[in-house]
Amino acid sequence: PYALAGRHFLKELDLTQDEFRGLIELAAELKAAKKAGTETQYLRGRNIALIFEKTSTRTRCAFEVAAADQGASTTYLDPSGSQMGHKESVKDTARVLGRMFHAIEYRGDSQESVEELAAHAGVPVYNGLTDTWHPTQMLADVLTMVEHCAKPLTGIALAYLGDARFNMGNSYLVTGALLGMDVRIVAPRAYWPAEEIVERARELAVRSGARITLTEEVAEGVLGADFVATDVWVSMGEPKEVWDERIVALGPYAVTTDVLRATGNADVKFLHCLPAFHDLGTRIGREIHERHGLDCLEVTDEVFESAHSVVFDEAENRLHTIKAVLVATLA
Ligand code: CP
Ligand code: NVA
Repeated sequence: PYALAGRHFLKELDLTQDEFRGLIELAAELKAAKKAGTETQYLRGRNIALIFEKTSTRTRCAFEVAAADQGASTTYLDPSGSQMGHKESVKDTARVLGRMFHAIEYRGDSQESVEELAAHAGVPVYNGLTDTWHPTQMLADVLTMVEHCAKPLTGIALAYLGDARFNMGNSYLVTGALLGMDVRIVAPRAYWPAEEIVERARELAVRSGARITLTEEVAEGVLGADFVATDVWVSMGEPKEVWDERIVALGPYAVTTDVLRATGNADVKFLHCLPAFHDLGTRIGREIHERHGLDCLEVTDEVFESAHSVVFDEAENRLHTIKAVLVATLA
């Protein structure tokens, strides 16, 4: 459990393939121990700060429950409840919290902020989501893939459909490349990850044997996929006005039953980090439906509620994988 003692987790690129796989194995062990009622507490007396400049259900709860299970305490700081970003710089906040806590989680817009915290805190810092990366989510997704597919990771094909310029698309590309997977980004060209991220992924793929595909063609992109993943078309922090352009551009990339059928894999599984717009019953969903006449956003209710969908296993695995990060870095 001590393999990453004192380390930050700011992006997937911070880890080697072995380290990433080690966290997945540790998470699986911690999950089994919790279910068997035999969990050992490695983190008694540790204090962890949770900074959330954006809202969260899964990530916050995963950190809080993981810490409690392991005997550690957490302090939740919301955007209005701390001085950071208003009266105090990230650098000063880092130096203050680093004196009181054994580790700090941070969720916000910019990757620079979490890197700045890490540079000055003197304790491990974890990225709980920025606009660029969502690394703790990737651990949960990989654990879920391992649990739901008999193939080794290097044999798994993952197709991500939707806005791939943001945290989830970037993270899937780089994670697949790191782990030697067959990873496909299926989106309009304007929504592909930035060139430097694609470059990093290609460099990793040379070493890992990963296959990397970026395509605008849904049928080509999903053929043979073991997992089809998507994310919201408009992310936290983006203005409401971008819905109109997203719907036009990404509408053809919605995950429907036809898309799952086009994989040719009767056993294909569906992933979504959540929260998801799978029914149009939400307020935004209704507005979009009225304005654009769409029947679904990034995924249909039919797919979301189908036997292909493993999204709640994925959500549960946030807990076990975040616990693995805490144990590996703090025990
Ligand atoms: N998937 C995820 O990060 O969910 P929250 O925004 O609820 O934390
Ligand atoms: N891309 C989404 C992920 C939410 C977990 C967002 O940033 O809002």
